[in-house]
Amino acid sequence: MDAISLLTQRSSMPRLIAPAPDDAAMTLIKRAALRVPDHMNLMPVRCDLVLGDDLSRLGKLFAQAAAHEEGFNERDRQRAAQLPLRAPLIIVVSTVYEAHPSVPALEQYATAACATMAMQQACFTLNYGAIWRSGAYAQSAMIKQGLGISQDNEIVGFLYIGTPAVPTPIKPERSKDIFQPVNIHINEEK
Ligand SMILES: Cc1cc2nc3c(=O)[nH]c(=O)nc-3n(C[C@H](O)[C@H](O)[C@H](O)COP(=O)(O)O)c2cc1C
Repeated sequence: MDAISLLTQRSSMPRLIAPAPDDAAMTLIKRAALRVPDHMNLMPVRCDLVLGDDLSRLGKLFAQAAAHEEGFNERDRQRAAQLPLRAPLIIVVSTVYEAHPSVPALEQYATAACATMAMQQACFTLNYGAIWRSGAYAQSAMIKQGLGISQDNEIVGFLYIGTPAVPTPIKPERSKDIFQPVNIHINEEK
């Protein structure tokens, strides 16, 4: 797949089955994550790989959070334990914030978000499917604790990865006009 096709046709795939990416594919996915823009090369990113029996352990953790924390409704409580079983691999992407005089946490979060996107793009080119999910689970103190992520870091997303159960539908391109001529105001009194 050429780069422009990748950039303009990237699509999420929620219906994922085994197999997960093999070792060679995982190496490329990691290289894509490590290649993202990263102010001062902090690489403030952590990727926990959840597969095999750990998927149901993550489901238990989701269920505990949904049962005991705010932000979840009855439907969430019923479904929580099953959610991680929707893919053979989940990469939990979180920040690893570092106090730095010229790189605020917001920029470090941006790098982690870019890494999530880059890994999804890599999956797409390798004919795997992936979808970036979050929900209240990404904000949960219990889930952070259960994964050993400190409370002052953020879970950026749960990247569900696997083999597409059906060919990934390519959605129509969005047509929102996000480009506009700039309009700069200068306070002449200053
Ligand atoms: C930060 C972030 C969190 C997201 N969380 C969820 C989520 O919890 N559940 C979900 O179905 N989609 C979520 N999405 C949206 C999907 O990743 C995806 O973009 C959406 O289904 C549209 O499909 P597309 O990527 O093919 O356009 C999230 C996207 C982002 C960027």
